[in-house]
Amino acid sequence: MTQLETLAYVSQASRELTTGEVDGILADARKFNSENGISGVLFHCNGQFFQVIEGSPQAIALVFARIEEARAHGDIDILMRDEIEERNFAEWHMGFVSAPTSVVQELAQADWEAAMPVTRPSLRRSKGLSLATYHWSKWAAEANSTGV
Ligand SMILES: Cc1cc2nc3c(=O)[nH]c(=O)nc-3n(C[C@H](O)[C@H](O)[C@H](O)COP(=O)(O)O)c2cc1C
Repeated sequence: MTQLETLAYVSQASRELTTGEVDGILADARKFNSENGISGVLFHCNGQFFQVIEGSPQAIALVFARIEEARAHGDIDILMRDEIEERNFAEWHMGFVSAPTSVVQELAQADWEAAMPVTRPSLRRSKGLSLATYHWSKWAAEANSTGV
């Protein structure tokens, strides 16, 4: 089976970004991600980002290097970096949601330690990751989310 890894982080915008600037980052990210088999979601609220990326360990390393270099944000705080059995956001090369600050803060403060395997590998999903998939599915159903 192909090895899969996921990484989640929060970061602080280095300045106030216009919608056009965020759209530009997204377009650039989606192109690179689709070429490199990366899926995931990006939440943006006033001044903060929360992102989950998933893909092969090699692709994760490449994409995360790009993310770390981006001047639009800083203070990157990795919440989780772990192997996964299957993708949680398989359909999204980078789903995007403009989220309320409270949601991003809740995600940043969640428990990101993967639970011990119980009976099925999928049960290893951490509380943080479960929360991210919950918020994503909720917001994806609404009009202010976009994804490619
Ligand atoms: C919050 C955020 C998320 C990003 N996510 C991705 C991503 O998922 N994939 C990717 O290839 N690049 C990602 N990038 C990098 C951008 O696509 C782009 O390379 C970068 O913003 C250009 O930075 P520069 O203006 O510093 O040259 C991200 C950048 C930021 C700020």
